Amino acid sequence: MTTNRTFTMIKPDAVENGHIGNIIDMVTSAGFEIKAMKYTRLSKEQAQEFYAVHAERPFYGELVSYMTSGPIVAAILEKENAVADFRALIGATDPAEAAEGTIRKAYAENKGRNAVHGSDSDENAEIEGKFHFSAEEIH
Ligand code: RTP
Ligand code: MG
Repeated sequence: MTTNRTFTMIKPDAVENGHIGNIIDMVTSAGFEIKAMKYTRLSKEQAQEFYAVHAERPFYGELVSYMTSGPIVAAILEKENAVADFRALIGATDPAEAAEGTIRKAYAENKGRNAVHGSDSDENAEIEGKFHFSAEEIH
């Protein structure tokens, strides 16, 4: 089932580097509608749970400390084919491999500090959205 929604985070490097406004502009210019949004900071427990799928990977500790190093912007976005279209808009995990015109090409520092998150499936979009927002916060 496609839900037409995805979940994103503007990660600590992009917030720290002053790119929130430009990234939101790229997202809305690409046709995504904001259904929920918050400026917040992840606790260590939240970051560990959010990225639990990577717990056995060598970069997990670094990923958790990066994702808790400063504030983030979390958001639920809506558009037809949201998950796939948003992954295309953000580009490859490693900005060195990201296509021109993508958010990571423009704003990511490197493969670890890569500016934005985008859900990888409709199922995860729903789980991740609910992880960050209560029902009352989602429109
Ligand atoms: P995301 O989940 O954040 O949207 O990123 P992604 O799908 O493109 O990449 P994924 O494989 O899910 O990895 C999650 C995040 O872990 C960090 N990472 N670091 N140093 C490394 O080799 C490495 N590989 C991944 C990145 O922050 C990546 O976005
Ligand atoms: Mg991922």
